[in-house]
Amino acid sequence: MPDFDTSVPHVARVYDYWLGGKDNFAADRVMGVAQGAAPESRIVYVDNDPIVLSHAKALLKSTPEGACAYLDADLRDPDTILAGAANTLDFARPVAVMLIAVMHFIGDDAEASAIMNRLMAACVPGSYVALSHAASDIDAVQMAEMIRRLNESTAEKTTLRDRAGVTRLFDGLELVEPGVIRAAEWRPDTDLEAASPAALWGGVARKP
Ligand SMILES: C[S@@+](CC[C@H](N)C(=O)[O-])C[C@H]1O[C@@H](n2cnc3c(N)ncnc32)[C@H](O)[C@@H]1O
Repeated sequence: MPDFDTSVPHVARVYDYWLGGKDNFAADRVMGVAQGAAPESRIVYVDNDPIVLSHAKALLKSTPEGACAYLDADLRDPDTILAGAANTLDFARPVAVMLIAVMHFIGDDAEASAIMNRLMAACVPGSYVALSHAASDIDAVQMAEMIRRLNESTAEKTTLRDRAGVTRLFDGLELVEPGVIRAAEWRPDTDLEAASPAALWGGVARKP
């Protein structure tokens, strides 16, 4: 019988919780949403996929102290995102923008930078943005081949960027330590987490 401790969050069970599964425990659910740490959090999720929309309608819940909303919107249209988010978030106060594994669906570098700039222009100084992005220069050969095959069949094409390209997306912002680094090595809680082989660059920056 494998040894596992249900009092400690496990990433697979946290994803199971995020995905609406039943194979998760209290520790995974607390880990899985910002409101587990701060019940008063106000959160807006954004996605343009109709399946994600139907799951959000079925699953999205909020604490009574906070708020959770979902926007069916495209990252390429940040004005619509900002207008919709303003119904839930107070943009007069700092907010955290999370662009987790999504900017690599924007193929054009100038468009990706413009989206980042538009989103952060709407946020007051002291706001933060977290970004993770599929890497062209980690396991480069394998990643190029994987993305070539993936892009043959997926509707949304993925564009890999190198570390310098991902770093440029943060122009005008103050990167916090340790900067743009392999996402698994961005302040990992455990050695096991740091050892994750995911070929993603990750960074967090503050709006000055
Ligand atoms: C790899 S998942 C990451 C989801 C989530 N950020 C997370 O970390 O669990 C990428 C998501 O981005 C969404 N997506 C792709 N292109 C998008 C776009 N142009 N606008 C909004 N969402 C998009 C996809 O539908 C998918 O759900």
